[in-house]
Amino acid sequence: MIKLFTSRIFFSCILLCLFITVIAKAQVKEEGIIPRPVEMIKTNEVFTFTKSITIGTGAGISADNLTFFSAYFKSVAGYSLPLNHNINASVYLTIDSGSITQPEGYKLLVTAKQIKIVGHDEAGVFYGLQSMTQLLKATNGKVTVQGCTVTDYPRFAYRGMHLDVSRHFFKPEAIKKWIDLLALYKINTFHWHLTDDQGWRIEIKKYPLLQSISAYRDETIIGHKKDSPHKFDGQRYGGYYTQDEVKEIVKYATQRHITVIPEIEMPGHALAALAAYPQLGCTGGPYKAATYWGIFDDVYCAGNDETFTFLQNVMDEVLPLFPSKYIHIGGDECPKTKWKTCPKCQKRIRDEHLKDEKELQSYFIGRMEKYLNSKGRQIIGWDEILEGGLTPGATVMSWTGEEGGIAAAKQHHDAIMTPEKYVYLDYYQSLSPAEPLAGGGYTPLSKVYNYEPITNELSGDEAKYIKGVQANAWSEYMASPAQAERQLFPRMLALAEVAWSPKENKNYPDFLKRLRYQQPLLKKLNINAADVFDEITDSVTETADHQVALSLQTTLPGSKIYFTNDGSTPGLNSKAYTDAITIASSGTIKAAVFSSGKQQGRTYEKSFNIHKAIGKTVTLKNHPQGGFNPGNTFGLVNGIFGSKLYNDGQWYGFSGDDLEAVVDLGSAQSVSQLGINILKYHWQKMWEPTLLTFEVSTDGSNYTEVYRQTDFPDNGINAVRANIKTQQARYIRVKATNKGIIPPGEYIPGAKAWMMVDEIVVN
Ligand code: ACM
Ligand code: ZN
Repeated sequence: MIKLFTSRIFFSCILLCLFITVIAKAQVKEEGIIPRPVEMIKTNEVFTFTKSITIGTGAGISADNLTFFSAYFKSVAGYSLPLNHNINASVYLTIDSGSITQPEGYKLLVTAKQIKIVGHDEAGVFYGLQSMTQLLKATNGKVTVQGCTVTDYPRFAYRGMHLDVSRHFFKPEAIKKWIDLLALYKINTFHWHLTDDQGWRIEIKKYPLLQSISAYRDETIIGHKKDSPHKFDGQRYGGYYTQDEVKEIVKYATQRHITVIPEIEMPGHALAALAAYPQLGCTGGPYKAATYWGIFDDVYCAGNDETFTFLQNVMDEVLPLFPSKYIHIGGDECPKTKWKTCPKCQKRIRDEHLKDEKELQSYFIGRMEKYLNSKGRQIIGWDEILEGGLTPGATVMSWTGEEGGIAAAKQHHDAIMTPEKYVYLDYYQSLSPAEPLAGGGYTPLSKVYNYEPITNELSGDEAKYIKGVQANAWSEYMASPAQAERQLFPRMLALAEVAWSPKENKNYPDFLKRLRYQQPLLKKLNINAADVFDEITDSVTETADHQVALSLQTTLPGSKIYFTNDGSTPGLNSKAYTDAITIASSGTIKAAVFSSGKQQGRTYEKSFNIHKAIGKTVTLKNHPQGGFNPGNTFGLVNGIFGSKLYNDGQWYGFSGDDLEAVVDLGSAQSVSQLGINILKYHWQKMWEPTLLTFEVSTDGSNYTEVYRQTDFPDNGINAVRANIKTQQARYIRVKATNKGIIPPGEYIPGAKAWMMVDEIVVN
C-alpha cells in the first residue's frame, strides 16, 4: 500500500508545468519551422497554390534545388508546378549576396500574392525552400502557406549527421531517403562510417577480397552485448556499396547541399579488413570479421609499410568518389596490446624515436595525414588522435566528452562537438522496459535538444575553432531501416536546431510544439519516427521529512495522467495525478497519459521498496564517476532499485575505485538484514567486487563485521540480502573492493573495471 498526500514543495513546480501546458495547448496549431529560424514574423495573409502557378528561378539556381520540393509538393497537391525563369512568377527564387550577407542565409517572404525566397547563395535559396516546404499545408485539396517573413541563417557552418553502416548495412535507397531528411532540416554534412570490425562497406577495386570477404560476417549476435553467454543467429550477413552506388549517393547529397565525408577507420576497428588481408595485422592472423560489438585487440600493424601502402591505395580509390575537403580517418578505440609485443611495431618506435605506443598512433595518423594533405585533403579524427600529440592540420571530432574538442580548440585546431552523452542517437530515448534494444546510454529528446556545443571553458577566440556539432548513429542495435528511423527521428531534428538556430532562440516547449506540427510531414515522408517524448517521465526527490516523493510529467498538451498504486492497470477511472506522490510503503505505481479519452503511449511503472535506510544520510569515501554519478547519495537509499537497463540513473559506478559507504540511521535501531545490489556485466566492463563486507556500529567509530561475500555468480543484478543476528546499530558501513584492472582474456583487458552498486537496504 502506498500513502498519498500533497507535498507543498512541488506546488509551484506543478503550477509552472500547468502554465506551460496551457500555453502549449493554445499554440499547438500554429506553424513552426525546424530548426527555428533567426526570426519569423507571421501575418494574417495566406498564399494559396493553384494549378496555374509557376515557379521562377533567378540566375545561378540549379533545378536540383527544387527536386525534393517538387516531388513533395506533387505528393500533397496532386499536381506539379512548372519551372521557368519568370521574375514575375508567383513563387520566385533568387540569389542576392548583397542584401543577404550570411553564407547559407535566406529571406522567405510569403504574402497572399507571392512567395519570394532570396538567398545569399544557392544553399541559402535551398534552405528557404526547405522552410517553405515545412510550411505547406494541405486542407481539402487546397495547398496553402501561412503569410510570413522569415529571416534566417545558420549558427554553425558544420551541421553533421553520422551513420554507421558496418554494424548494419543500409541499402542506397534508405541512405537517399535519410539524405532528404537531412536536407529538409538544414543538416549539411553526412559522415558516412564505411569501415569497421563487422564489415567493410565500400568497393575498392584494387582489393577484391574486401568485397568477397571483408564485406561479410559469419553471423550476428542476438540480443544485447551485455547478455552472457552471447547468442548468435547463424546467418551470414553483409553487403557493400559499389563505387557507382557511392557516386550516385554523393551526387544525390551534393544536389541537396550536403557534403559527404567518408570515414575509413584506422588503426583500430580493422578486423574486417584484416580478415581479407591478414598480413596487415601484427600477428598475421587468421582473423575474422567480428560477429558482435566491441573493441578488438587486433588492429593494423603500424610497423609494416604494407599497411600504409594498402591504406594509401584505398584512399586513391576513395578520394575521387568524395569531393569533400575532409576525410575522416577514425583513430578511436585502438588498443595497443598487439603493438606492445609486435617486433615490427617496436622497431618502428625505435627507428622513429617515439616514446611509446601512443606516439606510434600519432605516427600512424600523421603519416596518413601527410598522404592525404599531398592529395589536397584535410583529416578529421575522433578525439583519441590527441593522445600522442595532434598532427598539424587535424580536426578533432570530440566524442568521449567535450574535453577533446576543448583541448583541440585551445591548441587552435578545429573541432566538431559530438559528445556521446548528448548526441549519440543509438542510445535509449525512453526508460520504458518496452523500449527496443539500444546502446548503453539514456539520451531523451530533451537532452539532445538542450546540448550546448560552446562550453564556458573556451574564450571567444577559442570558441571560433568549434566548427559545429554532429549527432552520431552507431547501428549495432539498428537491424532494419525502420528501427534506424525510430532512433534517428525525431532526435535528429533536435540536433538540427542545436546546429542551426541562435542559442537565444532555443526553447524546448516551443520545439515540441513545432515538432508536433512536423509530424504529418514526417508521416507523409514515411518516416518511422518515435513519439516517446510524450510519454511519462518522472523525477524522484526527497521530501523535507526524508521520505520519497515521485513526480510525473508529460509534455503532451491537453492531456492528463491517471495512476494506480495497487498494481492494477491505470484507466480514466483511476486517480488523476495532480501533485507529487509521497511513497510511504513498498509497492508499484502505474500511470498512463490520457488525451481525448484515449491512452497515449505506453504504461509507466515504478516499484518502490521502503526500508529503514530510506532518506538517511550516506557518506561516500570515493565519488561515483562519469555517467554513473547521480550527483547525490539519496539514490542509494531512495527505495528504487537500479534496473538491468543500467542507464536509468539509479546505479552508482566506480571506475577502478572501491566503495566505502556509511549509512547513519540517526539513532540505534534493531537491524536484522543488510543488502546491496551489484550489477555485473563483464561485456560492459562492469565487474563485481572481489570482496563485499557489511559492518555495524553504534558509535560510528567501533565497527563489527557482520557479513562478507566474494562470489557474485549472476550476469546482471546480484541482489545481496544478508540476514544477520538481530542487533542494535546506528551506523552501517558497506565496503566493496573494485576488481581494479580488467584481466587478460576478458573484454577490454587492461582497462579499469566499473563497479556498479545501487540501494543499500536495511531491514
Ligand atoms: C566512437 O563512438 N567510438 C567514436
Ligand atoms: Zn605490429
